[in-house]
Amino acid sequence: MQIGPYALANNLIVAPMAGVTDRPFRMLCRHFGAGHAVSEMITADKLLRLSKKTLRRADFEGESSPISVQIAGSDPQELAAAARYNVEAGAQIIDINMGCPAKKVCSKLAGSALLQDEKLVASILSAVVSAVDVPVTLKTRLGFRNGEENILRIAKLAEDSGIAALAVHGRTREDMYNGYARYELIRAVKQSVGIPVIANGDIDSPQKAREVLEATGADAIMVGRAAQGRPWLFREIAHFLATGEEYPPPALDEVRNTMLTHLETLYDFYGEYSGCRIARKHIAWTTRGLTGSNEFRSRMYALDSTAAQRTAVLDYFDGLDMNDRPFISQQKQQLPEGEGCE
Ligand SMILES: Cc1cc2nc3c(=O)[nH]c(=O)nc-3n(C[C@H](O)[C@H](O)[C@H](O)COP(=O)(O)O)c2cc1C
Repeated sequence: MQIGPYALANNLIVAPMAGVTDRPFRMLCRHFGAGHAVSEMITADKLLRLSKKTLRRADFEGESSPISVQIAGSDPQELAAAARYNVEAGAQIIDINMGCPAKKVCSKLAGSALLQDEKLVASILSAVVSAVDVPVTLKTRLGFRNGEENILRIAKLAEDSGIAALAVHGRTREDMYNGYARYELIRAVKQSVGIPVIANGDIDSPQKAREVLEATGADAIMVGRAAQGRPWLFREIAHFLATGEEYPPPALDEVRNTMLTHLETLYDFYGEYSGCRIARKHIAWTTRGLTGSNEFRSRMYALDSTAAQRTAVLDYFDGLDMNDRPFISQQKQQLPEGEGCE
């Protein structure tokens, strides 16, 4: 998979997820075999550039190239300026968000709401592409409303504006995260443009990854929710796509060690207060389905220091039978509800 001058390590991409795909999680997924990762969405509003949240989202220290920064907004000049600013700060790829379904974002006519105004889409794409000398990619959905799927026109606009790659979540904004991703429309996009197309939506296993690549003919796949608490999913998918054989899910001691390493990187990245709070969901996702995890989770959520949290995680795993291989039975998990980007 190529994005401009960048040949990615493979065709497995970590989907941008605000509040989830921060630097620690992106690096964890790359460690487990993801070929590329995109930042959480970063507002183009220059008044928020120096906010703690924006600075953390734009922190890529120690990450491997290419660094992809996703920007969100609705004004072409403001997005062009944000693209220039992030490239000066080290971004090697600029990704434009036209898929976010969250009310807060759509009420500002940003994210997927932009799909209602194809003229504005065209001016945003050309303004950003001409503002920077790095590849610009676009992430979007099939359309805003069902029955008004305009992804084929948007894809053409993207190609004509010089967009280097297009990621498509197989749902409309109206779908939010309900129903199933529609791969046949992603296939139609792939057949209608010459730029790389990335298929996204409901990929939660190695088998599903292969099915989606075959069904869409896409150049790459993008995985979001199924990687929450399961960064090793990328290893399993990469192995299965390369060999046709299943890679065994991790043993508990690898899960334990991955969890502890992840905690340290979160505490280091966010500090004591936010580190403890942001780690909770990752602990909950990682221990989901393990013996006694429901009871452990409610105790864990009540802890408000990293020291207590780390000890609780250690004690919990020490209480498990390390010969247990719970993740074998968990291959086909129910995808968590999409909380959505904001
Ligand atoms: C918690 C959460 C946050 C998200 N944040 C973003 C975001 O910042 N930018 C974006 O383009 N998409 C965002 N998305 C959408 C995902 O990138 C992806 O398109 C969607 O989850 C479908 O893929 P999946 O079925 O593999 O999860 C988010 C999704 C979730 C669940």
